[in-house]
Amino acid sequence: MKITVITGTEQKGCTYRIKEIFLNALGTGHEITQYYLPSDLPDFCCGCKICFLHDENLCPHAAHVVPIWNSLLESDLLVFASPVYALRTTAQMKSLLDHLCVHWMVHRPDERMFSKKAVILTNAVGPIQKGAQSDIATSLRWLGVSQIRTLGIGLMEGIIFNQLSDKRQKDITRKTVKFAKKFKNPSPPHNGLKVRGLFALCRLLHQQAARKEVILSADNRYWVEKGFIKPSIKKQG
Ligand SMILES: Cc1cc2nc3c(=O)[nH]c(=O)nc-3n(C[C@H](O)[C@H](O)[C@H](O)COP(=O)(O)O)c2cc1C
Repeated sequence: MKITVITGTEQKGCTYRIKEIFLNALGTGHEITQYYLPSDLPDFCCGCKICFLHDENLCPHAAHVVPIWNSLLESDLLVFASPVYALRTTAQMKSLLDHLCVHWMVHRPDERMFSKKAVILTNAVGPIQKGAQSDIATSLRWLGVSQIRTLGIGLMEGIIFNQLSDKRQKDITRKTVKFAKKFKNPSPPHNGLKVRGLFALCRLLHQQAARKEVILSADNRYWVEKGFIKPSIKKQG
């Protein structure tokens, strides 16, 4: 399998360890590309909107964002590993997700995302992981990913992996390995109902917009060029 891994911290701590346990449990022979945030995307989205209005390649941070997006598109399995910060994902992970908004289904989706599996690995001192997981899952869903699975590890005994009791470390390893086994099968998932529903809704919205607008927006042009909607014949000017 081709796998892209995004880790939302540069610490070689618990997030890193859990992610490594997960990858090792997948076995050998995979082509794995890894990105660590924020070093692989140091800038926040500045809100210039050039991606929406013109072209994502003109984003001031395209040199960082485009390779990550291409790597996601070329992969079978997408892995997002993040610690929980203030009950959410880290700001650097959110920054990447913000940069990918242009590829949400309401804007310019890429159909290659429909056949991806995604894994979200979170950890926190306590048991509450849902907020961080849904920060990532919401974006993945709108990017068109059909199968999204989550694993949340409550460290419970502390925040330094080596200082956790042997029993806790073993429990975390066992849980993570068991979870990883679900992803050994490389076959792509079926298009999920939610993704199909969102795509159908967006297609309707774009078809209506394309009928009304004399000069099509970058988003509308993309939908027409992709053949997702029919071009509407209208007099220009
Ligand atoms: C700034 C910051 C905020 C955190 N917020 C929470 C939190 O809201 N809830 C929680 O249970 N753990 C929280 N943690 C703990 C982390 O989720 C994580 O378990 C810990 O940082 C260990 O992972 P790491 O070694 O990869 O950094 C926080 C840690 C940091 C550094």
